[in-house]
Amino acid sequence: MAEVVIVPDAQSAGDLVADEIASLIRADPEVVLGLATGSTPVPVYEALRPRLRGVDVSRVRGFALDEYVGIDPSHPQSYRNVILREVVEPLGLDPERIRTPDGALATIEHAGADYERAIAAAGGIELQILGIGTDGHIGFNEPGSSFASSTRVKTLTEQTRNDNARFFDTVDQVPMHCITQGLGTILRARHLVLLAFGEGKAAAVAGALEGPVTASLPGSAIQLHPRVSVVVDESAASQL
Ligand code: GLP
Repeated sequence: MAEVVIVPDAQSAGDLVADEIASLIRADPEVVLGLATGSTPVPVYEALRPRLRGVDVSRVRGFALDEYVGIDPSHPQSYRNVILREVVEPLGLDPERIRTPDGALATIEHAGADYERAIAAAGGIELQILGIGTDGHIGFNEPGSSFASSTRVKTLTEQTRNDNARFFDTVDQVPMHCITQGLGTILRARHLVLLAFGEGKAAAVAGALEGPVTASLPGSAIQLHPRVSVVVDESAASQL
C-alpha cells in the first residue's frame, strides 16, 4: 500500500520531499538519486537548494528517467540540458556523476543496455522521483508499456507530444521518440516518490493508486512496489 500525503500546495510537497532527499545525502554522500524532468519536480529541486548549503554534494550520483531521441544535445529542452539547468547547476552537483539516457541516433541501439548497466554498477537507485503524465505515463512509459521493461526507445503518444508542446515553439518540434527507463527499471528503485499537482492529474493519480494494475495506465505499476510515497495536492487527490 502506498503512503499518500495530501499537501496544501506544490511548495509544501517540495519541502517534504527535499527534507527526505537532504537526509539521504547527509547519511550517504554517494547516494544514487533518480531524477525526473517536467514541471512537477521543480519545487523539490528548489527546496533542496537551501537544505544542501554546507553539505558535501560532490559525490552524489543521479540518473534521469528519460530523454528525447534525436534532439540536439544543445537544445534547451533536451532533458540533459533541463537536468543540468534545474538540478545540477543550482545544487552544485558534479555533472559527470549525473547521467541522462543518451538520445543520440548514432548510439541509440545500445544506449538502453548501457544505461541499465550504469545503474546496476552504481548499486541501483535509492530514491526515484516520479511525475505522472495525464495519460498515466511515468518516465516516458506510455500506455501499453510492459511492467518488465528496461531502458529503451519508445514512441511518444500524441497526447504527450501535445502536453509537452508548451516547452517548444510548436507541437511539430516535439520529438516523436524518446528513450526512457522502463517500468521494470523504475520498479527496481528502492523508494518511489510520485508527485502530482492540479486537477489535470486527478484521473491519472486515481488510476495509478486505486485502479486495476494495467499496462493501459503505466503509473499503476507503482502498486507492485513495496515502498511508494505519493505526494499530491487537493486537486490531484480529488478523484481518490
Ligand atoms: C513528461 C516526462 C515525465 C513527466 C510527465 C509529466 O513528459 N517525461 O517524466 O513526469 O511528462 O510532466 P509534468 O510534470 O510537466 O506535468
